[in-house]
Amino acid sequence: MAGRRRQGIDPLKKAFVKSYGCQMNAYDAARMADVLGAEGYAATDQVEEADVVVLNTCHIREKAAEKVYSELGRLRVLKGERAEAGRDTRIVVAGCVAQAEGAEILSRAQGVDVVVGPQSYHRLPALLAASREKRVVDTDFPVEDKFDHLPARRNRGVTGFLTVQEGCDKFCAFCVVPYTRGAEVSRSVAAIRAEAEAMVAAGVREITLIGQNVNAYHGAGADGAPASLAGLMAELGRIPDLLRLRYTTSHPNDMAEDLIAAHGSDPLLMPYLHLPVQSGSDRVLKAMNRKHTGDHYRALIARIRAARPDIALSSDFIVGFPGETEAEFEETMRLVADIGFASAFSFKYSPRPGTPAAEREDAVPEAVKSERLARLQGLLDAQRHAFNAATVGKVVEVLVEKAGRHPGQVAGKTPHLQAVQFDAPLAAIGTLVPVRIVQSGSNSLFGERVADAARAA
Ligand code: 5AD
Ligand code: SF4
Repeated sequence: MAGRRRQGIDPLKKAFVKSYGCQMNAYDAARMADVLGAEGYAATDQVEEADVVVLNTCHIREKAAEKVYSELGRLRVLKGERAEAGRDTRIVVAGCVAQAEGAEILSRAQGVDVVVGPQSYHRLPALLAASREKRVVDTDFPVEDKFDHLPARRNRGVTGFLTVQEGCDKFCAFCVVPYTRGAEVSRSVAAIRAEAEAMVAAGVREITLIGQNVNAYHGAGADGAPASLAGLMAELGRIPDLLRLRYTTSHPNDMAEDLIAAHGSDPLLMPYLHLPVQSGSDRVLKAMNRKHTGDHYRALIARIRAARPDIALSSDFIVGFPGETEAEFEETMRLVADIGFASAFSFKYSPRPGTPAAEREDAVPEAVKSERLARLQGLLDAQRHAFNAATVGKVVEVLVEKAGRHPGQVAGKTPHLQAVQFDAPLAAIGTLVPVRIVQSGSNSLFGERVADAARAA
């Protein structure tokens, strides 16, 4: 419709991409921006000036899914306003709501032009072109590998996510992921190494390997035999200038021996582990189809701590799973007290259509869920504060990521994934700097650079 554009309007096409939910979605959103970039769309953070708007959606809890529809309502108004000014706007719904609801989105949200699932977004240019004729839905799990069809990634920044595995075969009774993201698939070591090398060449110094079930990774190695996550990390450790590795998110039942050992021996692997447990009650864990008990988890953590005593632990919790009693919730509180977490995410159970737990008729009342969540978060917050306070006075190595809040400051992360602000020139970005922590705030640590005489010598 360029011919109908009024004079004075910026001829450069622009794309606005917004992501909800997990790191997998953040990665996909960045890759969609790359796909659109290769088509001549410049990225914008001003939705009003975007010719293409992509919402990369999350279906994990009801609240996340509902957010999308209210955003689509606002976008429909914006699209109308832009049309009056002679400007076309294409609205794309991507991600897990797209996968789960497909064509239903077209009937619920009139402004939407394209619905595209997480496995087919490499087809975005063709879908956008087709949408000029009629609204399109593509929620296939295509035979071709989307990674083979994505343009080279553009990196901005010192840290980056890299998808190594997608999908989940675990079928926890509450979770939509096995339905929206499909079965577990791992990328090959060679493909991941090539992407990691490109990231490092572009300035990335810390890579977080991501997957819905990342420690179930079993991609093909150089000899064609499946490699483990620990094996993959050892391979990536050979890339010069890569300083740090992390991985997320994991299932307790896939913490293989070699992965536990890597926490003690792999010099790039940071001492931080996000290992969702969901509940401390064996009856609830069984009803959740988690296939582990509270004591399995405790024993596993003991082994991981034996390999890496200073490891910082993080987890996910669900309160108010159908049938959860007060005593069973107390078992979750006890597990948290026993383990001690550096950080955590906790949620009220939210029934998801199509999952086995959604069929249950013994729902916990909303008020009870809220009260339990507040108690659990109180304990987890206290543990997080204690963990951060214990760093005060210590010298930690900070990977500097960006300018800090105030002029003259930079911001980065400790090995334990704590945010730190301290005074240093911007030239420190991308380097490891020893920093003495002097104060622990609510969301950040504050420190000062250690004049490291030994290093200078
Ligand atoms: N209700 C509440 N929380 C959920 N999660 C997954 N599904 C649900 C649900 N139906 C949480 C789990 C998971 C995290 C990503 O989201 O804790 O680990
Ligand atoms: Fe969902 Fe369970 Fe798979 Fe995690 S392991 S993605 S909670 S089904």
